[in-house]
Amino acid sequence: MTDVKPDSDPASEAETLFELLGGEPGIRALVDDFYAIMDADPSAKTVRELHPPMLNGSRDKFFWFLCGWSGGPDHYISRFGHPRLRARHLPYAIGEAERNQWLTCMLQALERQPYPPALRERLMASFFETADWMRNRPG
Ligand code: HEM
Repeated sequence: MTDVKPDSDPASEAETLFELLGGEPGIRALVDDFYAIMDADPSAKTVRELHPPMLNGSRDKFFWFLCGWSGGPDHYISRFGHPRLRARHLPYAIGEAERNQWLTCMLQALERQPYPPALRERLMASFFETADWMRNRPG
């Protein structure tokens, strides 16, 4: 007798973060909301002004990045190579204020998604770590 579990169907295996986020349509919705909030919220003015006037390019890059980062298709790496996120952010002055504005936009965007609270918390913890590591000037 084998000890193969009756429920060893791959569909019943743990979902990847990419799947938990709703795959490409879910990540697209998160990114669209994130930049729409950044564009509209006066308290995100400093971080908005670091970005180009039209946000389409930023939106696509962040979408491609998050797909791969969450375990989905590597759209970003196949186009641009290794993300080297800290190096790619060096042209932009990022201190605590910019970090906090970015994270506040992300918190609001996450609240608009149909994610369970534990998933939102997990994502905010990861985004905090990455955003904090991106700081490149005091203050
Ligand atoms: C800490 C606050 C942050 C600020 C102020 C910031 C700002 C920016 C700006 C101004 C750009 C350039 C947009 C463009 O070229 O259209 C950018 C690009 C990008 N950001 Fe951020 N960012 C922050 C945090 C993050 C975090 C936490 C992530 C990932 C979780 C991230 C992922 C990206 C990616 C993937 C790009 C595209 C890079 C490229 O290929 O040029 N950013 N960010």
